[in-house]
This record gives sequence, C-alpha cells and structure tokens, in this order.
Amino acid sequence: MENSQYKIQGLDLHDVCKRFGTPLYVYDADVIKRQFENFSNAFSGIDHRIMYAVKSCTNLSIMKYMRFLGAGIDTVSIPEIKMGFKVGFKPEEIVFTPNVVEFHEIREAVEFGVPINIENLQNLEAFGKEFKSAYPVCIRLNPNMLSEIESGRATSLDFASINKEHYDEVGEQQVSAWHNQSKFGISLMEFDKVLELVKKYNIRINGLHLHSSHVILDKKVFAKGVKIVFEIAKLFDHLEYVDFGGGIMVKHHPDDIVIELDETGRILKKEYDKFCVSIDKRIKIWFEPGRYLMSEAGCLLTKAVVLKTNGFINFVGTNTGFNHLLRPMMYDAYHEIVNLSNLCGELEKYNIVGNLCEIDNIGTERMLNKVRKDDILMIKNAGAYGFSMSSNYNTRPKPAEVLIINGRAELIRKRENFDDLIRNQIELDF
Ligand code: LLP
Repeated sequence: MENSQYKIQGLDLHDVCKRFGTPLYVYDADVIKRQFENFSNAFSGIDHRIMYAVKSCTNLSIMKYMRFLGAGIDTVSIPEIKMGFKVGFKPEEIVFTPNVVEFHEIREAVEFGVPINIENLQNLEAFGKEFKSAYPVCIRLNPNMLSEIESGRATSLDFASINKEHYDEVGEQQVSAWHNQSKFGISLMEFDKVLELVKKYNIRINGLHLHSSHVILDKKVFAKGVKIVFEIAKLFDHLEYVDFGGGIMVKHHPDDIVIELDETGRILKKEYDKFCVSIDKRIKIWFEPGRYLMSEAGCLLTKAVVLKTNGFINFVGTNTGFNHLLRPMMYDAYHEIVNLSNLCGELEKYNIVGNLCEIDNIGTERMLNKVRKDDILMIKNAGAYGFSMSSNYNTRPKPAEVLIINGRAELIRKRENFDDLIRNQIELDF
C-alpha cells in the first residue's frame, strides 16, 4: 500500500473512515495492478495466463478489475463460477479447481463449459464413464515431493516418484504440502491408475495441475517439481496447459522469507523451453495467485474503542475481531498494525484485541504509537483471505468494502445491517 502511513492515492484514510465507518476493508487498485504486472513480468518469456484465485477476495468489483487487468479466474465452487459469468468472464477464462466435491458439481461445470481440474481418482473415473473423450479435463497431481522442515524452512528434499520404498523411508518425517500425506491432488504413487482410467475411458487430458504452495519457497524443490510435471506431461498427447496453482507468499513480517518471483520465472522458463522443443508444440502455463495479487492491496481499518490494563498488559480493544479477520487466530498469522491517528506518538507495547466474547487476539506484544480512544488502526495484508473468511459470529454485521481507484474511494460492498443478520432465519411460533 503506497504511503501506508496515511494516504492511499492521495486520500486520507481518516476521511475514508468518516465516510464509510469502521471496521472497513479498503483495497488499493494501484497495488493490485502493480502486483499483477510484477507477476506477469516475472513470467514474460512464457506463454502464460494468470487466473486470479477468487476465494482470496470474493468481490464482484475486484473480480471485474482483475478482468480489466487481463486475468482469468480460478474458482472452487459453482457460485464462484456464476459470479465470474456475472462480471463478464467467458467460460474459457474460468478454471474450476474444486476440492473434495460431489460429482454433480463437476457435471454442472461441464454444462457451463469451463476448464475443469480433477483431484481424485473417484471423480476421474466418474468423469471418464460419463464424458469419455467428449470433454477435456485437467488432473491435479501431488508429486510426492518431500521437504523436511527444519526451523520452519524447507532445507532438504527428495522425490519419491512412484517408489513406495522411498516413501516408507521418509514417511515419518515432517513433510510439506506436496507430499502424498496431504489431501490434495492425485498422488504419483497412484499414477498408474490414472493412466489405466485414461486408457479405459479414452479420457482427453488437456492439462496438468500442481499447486505451487509454499514449496515454491525452495528453488531446488520447485525446480524438481517442474521437471517432474513436464516429464509426466509428455505422456499426454492432448496437453494444452500446465497449471502451477497459487500459494505465492508475500511479506507480512520484515523477517519473512519470500521467493524472488523473477528467479522462479527463470527456472520455469528454462524447463518450459526444453519441454516445448521436446514435444514440438508450445503449451500454455497457468497460475492461480490470490494472495500475491490481493494481500498487500488491502487493509482492515478499525477503531480503538476500549483501552485497559490487565496485569502488566496494555490492551487495545477494537471494534473488529476474528469474525472479520480470522487469520491471526486461525493461523497465528502476523499482520502489521499501524496507528494511523498518532503517527509520531511515542511507541508503547500493546496487545491489540477484538471484541468477541472469547480470546480474540489480532496482534500481541506490538509496539505501536501511543493509542488513544477512537484512534484508527490499520491492519495490513488483509486483502487476501480477510473479508472472504469473515463471519457473523457474535451476531455482528460484516464490514463494508471500499476500492480506491483513480483517486476515488468507491463502495464495493455495503456494511451489513440487522436485517441482513436475521434474513434467513425462520422464527417458529410456540
Ligand atoms: N490454487 C489452488 C489450487 C489453491 O488451493 C489455492 C489456495 C490457490 C490457488 C490460491 O492460493 P494463494 O495464491 O492465494 O495463496 N486461507 C488461507 C489460504 C488458503 C489457501 C488455499 N488454497 C490463508 O488465509 O492464508
């Protein structure tokens, strides 16, 4: 967020709060654009497509802005597909990448004509039986990459291939999302079954999918994963694209280690070029970033409503909580907090907490410029998985959302009211 201290595109966030109230989600269109361009430039040598992961910030105007920038969308449910159509995406600009779904959802996606990604053998078999070669399909792989985690960082790796012995050897170790103990994708250990199904039903595999996840952090792991996928890709004559999913991290804390996207681009390009020469055809590469595009573009603005000291801890009680931003409580995620109303005030140590009736930390032991009642606090990196994971817990309305674009603050979701909270409830007579 440009000049995170105070203004976004020249607008004072205090004025934005006065106009729309708090708590308030605010997104900066310029940052979304910057991130989109950074991403695109990193892979400029590759025929690629950015499919924005709608789940990270599921708002029609944000989706529409992504379309304006040139993105497609990655959807995980039928309503997300329908939202895509609503804002003008064509079927071929939408990918359906669901997890653990009943087959009728896949059938519906076929009716919509969108590219589909299947992540388990059960649905692949059902797909083969019903559609045979009439509708192409992409499969999501779990390449059994093992990355031991030491001190929270992937340090060594190995590839188990379809080799059970190797898997048993390392089975007990702490492993990453690309390992076959994670629920995602079809394990390479079952790959022979994929090939059997493809042959039996004459299924047309047009894509391979591999969610990059945090594994992309380790260059060596990523390079190996890419090689494996391209090796497998050679087995499918109808292949049109390889989808590397999302999961590209951005810094939340100054000490966070994130990847050099340009370097990832170089690693990928090398293997991509080799692969295209080997099959004598240029395929497309897809990505599904959500966080990379949206995290830094959004913040949650909240008001300090209650200041109190319990024991030796100074608490700042805000008018938001994990009903609006779940990440700190759910993942112990760090979100920087800035007191926008007292930028030059002395630094003091606080626990910033929410207003729910249970432990509801937003940030603990944080040094903030002295907080006074009614100060506006900015919770950063809230653009991805902020509003989209919010709830009405404690019967509180969800915040409004505002997009700052072309120097103007535009409301893109109204604040909920009492009627919204009880809309679907049915009051019985007794
Ligand atoms: N593609 C697939 C197949 C995914 O599973 C995901 C995220 C994405 C793309 C987008 O990942 P991104 O680029 O946004 O990291 N609620 C969690 C994140 C869950 C991500 C699940 N899958 C959080 O707040 O960190």
